[in-house]
Amino acid sequence: MTNQGNLKPTVFDLDGTSVKSYPAPGARLSEMLREDLGARDVKIGCNAGDCGACTVLVDDKPVCSCLTPAQQVAGKRVETLKGIRRDDPVADKLAHSFHGHGAAQCGICTPGMMVSAVALLREKPSPTEGEVKDALGGVLCRCTGYRKIIDAVMATSPITVEARGEVGDAIPRVDSEGKTSGTEKFGDDIAPAGTLEIFVIRSPFPRARFELGDLDEFIAQHEGIEATLTAKDVPGRNLFGVIPEFVDQPVFAETETRFRGEAIAAIVGTPSVIGAFDPDTFPVQWFELEAATDVKSAQTPTAAQLHEGRDKNVMCGGFVQCGDAKSALERADTIVEGHFRSGFVEHAYIEPEAGFAQILNGRVEVHACTQAPVMDLDALEKILDMDRAQIRIVPSGVGGGFGSKLDISVQPYLALAALKTGKPVRLTYSRTESMQSSTKRHPSDIQLRIGAKQDGSLSGFEFYGEFDTGAYASWGPTVANRVPVHASGPYQIQDYRAESKGIHTNNPPAGAFRGFGVPQSAIAQETLFDELAEKLGMDQLEFRILNALEDNVPTVCGQVFSQGVGIKACFEALRPAWNTEREQAATFNASNDVIKRGVGIAAGWYGCGNTSLPNPSTIKSGVLEDGTVVLHQGAMDIGQGSNTVISQIFATALGIPVQVLKIVGADTDVTPDAGKTSASRQTYVSGNAARLSGEALRAQILEKMNVGLEAVLSFSGGTLTANDGAGQQEIDLSTLAADDEGFVFRAEESYDPPTKALDENGQGVPYAQFGYAAHLVVVDVDTRLGTTKPVKFVAAHDVGRAINPMLVEGQVHGGIAQGLGMALMEEYIPGRTENLHDYLIPTVGDIPPIETIIIEEPDAHGPYGAKGLGEHVLIPTAPAILNAIHDAVGVRIRQVPATPARVRSKIKVSL
Ligand code: FES
Repeated sequence: MTNQGNLKPTVFDLDGTSVKSYPAPGARLSEMLREDLGARDVKIGCNAGDCGACTVLVDDKPVCSCLTPAQQVAGKRVETLKGIRRDDPVADKLAHSFHGHGAAQCGICTPGMMVSAVALLREKPSPTEGEVKDALGGVLCRCTGYRKIIDAVMATSPITVEARGEVGDAIPRVDSEGKTSGTEKFGDDIAPAGTLEIFVIRSPFPRARFELGDLDEFIAQHEGIEATLTAKDVPGRNLFGVIPEFVDQPVFAETETRFRGEAIAAIVGTPSVIGAFDPDTFPVQWFELEAATDVKSAQTPTAAQLHEGRDKNVMCGGFVQCGDAKSALERADTIVEGHFRSGFVEHAYIEPEAGFAQILNGRVEVHACTQAPVMDLDALEKILDMDRAQIRIVPSGVGGGFGSKLDISVQPYLALAALKTGKPVRLTYSRTESMQSSTKRHPSDIQLRIGAKQDGSLSGFEFYGEFDTGAYASWGPTVANRVPVHASGPYQIQDYRAESKGIHTNNPPAGAFRGFGVPQSAIAQETLFDELAEKLGMDQLEFRILNALEDNVPTVCGQVFSQGVGIKACFEALRPAWNTEREQAATFNASNDVIKRGVGIAAGWYGCGNTSLPNPSTIKSGVLEDGTVVLHQGAMDIGQGSNTVISQIFATALGIPVQVLKIVGADTDVTPDAGKTSASRQTYVSGNAARLSGEALRAQILEKMNVGLEAVLSFSGGTLTANDGAGQQEIDLSTLAADDEGFVFRAEESYDPPTKALDENGQGVPYAQFGYAAHLVVVDVDTRLGTTKPVKFVAAHDVGRAINPMLVEGQVHGGIAQGLGMALMEEYIPGRTENLHDYLIPTVGDIPPIETIIIEEPDAHGPYGAKGLGEHVLIPTAPAILNAIHDAVGVRIRQVPATPARVRSKIKVSL
């Protein structure tokens, strides 16, 4: 709460009630609303007017509340989502439309989207698509790909879904209400106003030595600062990392920093002091050192070594070989080759890393956004040198993750500060801090040669890729291992050699980002496949179908699937669009000289779960004596929909409607570990654990009630009824003995994918299942400006079984939007694109219509045949766009993003 002191009151109408607040001069409206008036339904993504998450209405006009001075609303009417939902039927109808269309995924942008949409709908009850895009143009969404939001706003009548939520039902998300009312609590929404805050001091240089000054003196001179934290305050291991052999990143650097944005210290103080703190006043002396900022310079003999024992800064590598690629290339009739590069890609989730910590009964409790609560616990146990029973991780809502929130961020600072001060503490990264310090997609530098015989069959494939893993390992080893397994794409290649290396540089750590390196390798492979088809005089789609992987044909790792290989079906599903869109493009081009239209296709595959490593999930469920069916669902829902999908699988297995479930989310005190949300594993791995848990619970109930296997179960209060056709049984649940959690029936089951280690040639069983995808895109390229505008996507995805078709579509749309960003506009450059106005992500105006085709080739291991999907959705997008650009203007782009300058310069050279 703001200290009133001599401050003047600001009186205004907030959601229909006159309120008075005392904002400091220059205070943001968003800050006053959230911190002084408790309106945490107003979300903050950037504090710079770039993301629009904080949009509210002031006298009916949408404004970014982070850019609006608080005093400016004196005497005015301010509406936030909470009030609008309560008072305006337009907003209530819109909320139902968001539910029915699946228009909210993580939900962090949803308040801004809905408030902006309500302003439009009040004036235009039936807006056009253009009007919707104009109205929502200032609000960014990183999850949905916008199409379902547009549909939800334009819908004239709400969608009513009355299904039980069985597998296959396109029910609305079970957690949708919190997102469309703004009541879901994200990382920054938990701490009470006035909680002590943390400011992390970071390196301004890619590489520097530093010396700290007198910190006691610093505290003495700064009223309101309660503590400082440095490496000396870390009681345990001053290191963290996600892969046990590569734990190398300090919580606080000790004498030298290895990337711009690395933490060296933190201060803990009152909100007003931390809010106004100037880091230049912190007592530290910097000595900038020469830095290696690309993989080539990092491997020179004179480059500084970032880590002992990692010769020439090579962190590790991956390798897969089968047949004899060299000889096959010599025998090939046609060879294509290329050198491909990509830059850092920022996750750009709209919720920056945030959390809250407190000491409760001597235990430290951390509430923060995360994709992996048990991994957070593992890390804090070592950093704090505490018995893990003394640490509790309670994840908040997650406003997007896409891989980066697998690594810890705010957690150690929160825990250390709470322990040192003994008080509750809070930390939310600024947008710049988030972008500087969080992990990124690995930049890649790839050489690839592919050969083919005149009949179109592949003859030799040689891949070498270097990946900039930045200053610390993070998930770099996973990328290095995964890429050679996937670089073939979903094709039959008998003679194959793929080698990858992760190279350290003085760049931010690169880690997990939707695809773990596979999107980068797919750009090289899929664009060269187009060139190969062209050189052979073959149709690009037919060339791919000819070489596509099939059941009973070995992958490049020697793995043979007897079922479930759905890539040919994906290609066949694209054939009608491939034919008609190319015809239409030819007609278009015949009458247009400046704008040229092109059509491109590309494919992708992705192995679900960890590569040849255990990654079990456990799901607990039970029935309470009052008849409540409880599902402990520990698979973090970061917007992708695991709360809903896991519930549908469990409810189907148990044989009840999903609506009766009480879901208990992740909490390391009470919910079993469902593993991390990554590698497209939750539907497959946690889904299987949920299926097993549901089946086990059902078996117990049927046995107890002595009814047949097909019995229909229903709960009414504390009475459970089972009807198997032969008769009806009832049981009063309160007559059964309850366990210490109150369960009268209880089942806890685990599932771990069956894989086998890879040998020295990468031969083995890396994944129990793959998912498959093929995308088609139509683009318009402006030959004068070099701009590329996608005008249509058709995406075919083999998901085995669509547990929830609406959520499948949502994943496809969101993945395509991120793939489009990677292809055309996104490049993180340390020191230059550290905010959301210099770093561009797709807006609502950038995403064309997307047709999603769901292919269901059931997988023997998947729950009800389902396969993972989260990463697959992005992999074919960028190469499809690059192939479409070539189709439009005849130039090959080998470095992404394909910015207008890059495209235009290639066009000029080709003229
Ligand atoms: Fe829009 Fe996540 S749903 S940012």
